[in-house]
Amino acid sequence: MKINGKSYNTIWFENNLVKIIDQTKLPHKFIIKDLKTVKDAINAIKIMEVRGAPLIGATAAYGLVLSIIEKKDLSFLKRSSEELIASRPTAINLKWAVDRMMKKLSGINDQDILKTALQEAKTIAEEDIEFCRNIGLNGLKIIEEIANRKKDTVNILTHCNAGWLATIDWGTATSPIYHAHQKGIKVHVWVDETRPRNQGANLTSYELNEEGVSNTIITDNAGGILMQRGQVDMCLVGTDRTLSNGDVCNKIGTYLKALAAKDNNIPFYVALPSSTIDWKIKDHKQIPIEERNSEELSYVEGIDENDKIKKLRIYPNKSKAMNLAFDVTPAKFVSGLITEKGVCEASEKGLKGLFK
Ligand code: MRU
Repeated sequence: MKINGKSYNTIWFENNLVKIIDQTKLPHKFIIKDLKTVKDAINAIKIMEVRGAPLIGATAAYGLVLSIIEKKDLSFLKRSSEELIASRPTAINLKWAVDRMMKKLSGINDQDILKTALQEAKTIAEEDIEFCRNIGLNGLKIIEEIANRKKDTVNILTHCNAGWLATIDWGTATSPIYHAHQKGIKVHVWVDETRPRNQGANLTSYELNEEGVSNTIITDNAGGILMQRGQVDMCLVGTDRTLSNGDVCNKIGTYLKALAAKDNNIPFYVALPSSTIDWKIKDHKQIPIEERNSEELSYVEGIDENDKIKKLRIYPNKSKAMNLAFDVTPAKFVSGLITEKGVCEASEKGLKGLFK
């Protein structure tokens, strides 16, 4: 995807450094940051300089490369892998990528370990690009079908950022939108602001603007009335962990959008690469839901007239706040899962049909 007309991936390896786009500074400043050590990678995931399920998986994979560059020591590598997995608990892609790397590296001798690790981290990133491109092509058919029926602009509501910035390229939920836009289909996106960190306003709207896709930011509570007024044709969101029964864990507030969509007979689709499927957990109550620092609620960040990023407290000093970062949308509210292999029902039968 492009920024100021130039194509970027969200992560890459150059001169023994991992390069990322610092997402805590977007949309105000576009800063490419170097990760030099595995600690840098862990910190970048924790403080959300990189975020989004597929991107934190790829960052963890490159984090292990940095760990090997620092020290060719198996116990250090093992500790690094554990700390990377623990850096954020909900998105399964993190563990998926670390486990895949560690499996690939087991039994590899000291001479070959760096080359093997780097190759596997690059493969994880390249595969994600291909998965997201295919998610786009599969989801495009759904948008095309609505456009043909409606013969007017297709209005899509999305939550959080399941865009290019949450993956390596294309995004998951945004990929069908970009494909539709590139094909000349008229699309307009309702972008949920996504409190408290405003990934919708700061990141989704930013990347849609850069690609020239029409979009409007709305408060997180506005989706319901837009649906009642017939101003939403479909909801399209990403996910951090989808269970084999089709239950979808995603950014807090997704569930409420699905309920409103159901009440208004609006299709609610979830886009995901297979690396986001948790085949083990059977009951969504076992998904570790991240609870982040309550200061993310009580402070807002923005840019002042001197171009300085500032943080301001908006809550009374004595007030407590709670910051659950994800919720679960039961499969019964999901119209379909858009994956790299095709679109399926949100159920064990649907997923197993695509992923034997
Ligand atoms: O807390 P974040 O910003 O990492 O949450 C991101 C989301 O909830 C996305 O919807 C999800 O990771 C899908 S990624 C394509």
